[in-house]
Amino acid sequence: MSLIVLCAGGHARVVIEALLSRGQRPSAVTDHDSARIGTLLGGIPITGPDEDILKMKIDQVQLANGLGNRASRSSSGLSVRRELFDRFAALGYAFPVISHASAVIASDASIGDGAQVMAGAIIQPAARLGRNVLVNTRAVVEHDCQVGDHAHIAPGAVLCGGVLVGEGAHIGAGAVVLGGVSVGAGAIVAAGAIVARNVEAGAFVGGDRE
Ligand SMILES: CC(C)(COP(=O)(O)OP(=O)(O)OC[C@H]1O[C@@H](n2cnc3c(N)ncnc32)[C@H](O)[C@@H]1OP(=O)(O)O)[C@@H](O)C(=O)NCCC(=O)NCCS
Repeated sequence: MSLIVLCAGGHARVVIEALLSRGQRPSAVTDHDSARIGTLLGGIPITGPDEDILKMKIDQVQLANGLGNRASRSSSGLSVRRELFDRFAALGYAFPVISHASAVIASDASIGDGAQVMAGAIIQPAARLGRNVLVNTRAVVEHDCQVGDHAHIAPGAVLCGGVLVGEGAHIGAGAVVLGGVSVGAGAIVAAGAIVARNVEAGAFVGGDRE
């Protein structure tokens, strides 16, 4: 069974590192830039565009989403990462859960297909992560949190107990969401924000200029 990382960007290097930490060596990375074909990313060969996956039988390959995201005030930036996952998942390709060996995941946490838990992250008891969720470096998802499909908990962010994060929401680096608060689908929480009240779907919070 081959394991292929889709899209050779900065996040793909983090994914490769997480895989290597568990002794799993991906066989290839894809990229649409033909100039990069034949080069290495984190020691793994970039072999061709995403479309090459379609030549492989779904029972012979597993995929890892190598796209990260950069949020802005107007967009969580997660749509491209989501489309990549949805496109191949709809065709039947499997996206295994990826977790760095240094991540801590409670025994009764529930982790959806293709979710990624990066180095130093902590997922506490009864937490639920949806499909294609990214819990980035050293983020904390406390007990009883629910994180919807495709959401991103950026590096160092903290979800206190019982937080609900909607589908495709972005919780910025170092942000803290207080216990029991809900962040709606597609909402954007700026890096470093403290979120003490519920956030409506699609809303933007934090990021106040000094
Ligand atoms: C808030 C955020 C979404 C705004 O992004 P943006 O729309 O591209 O805005 P800009 O970076 O152009 O910044 C616009 C202004 O807001 C300020 N600003 C940006 N982010 C801020 C933040 N988190 N807190 C306070 N001020 C912030 C900038 O200094 C700038 O101020 P100025 O107009 O006085 O110069 C973004 O900065 C952010 O916090 N993103 C999350 C980052 C993250 O989690 N990355 C993880 C990657 S793995």
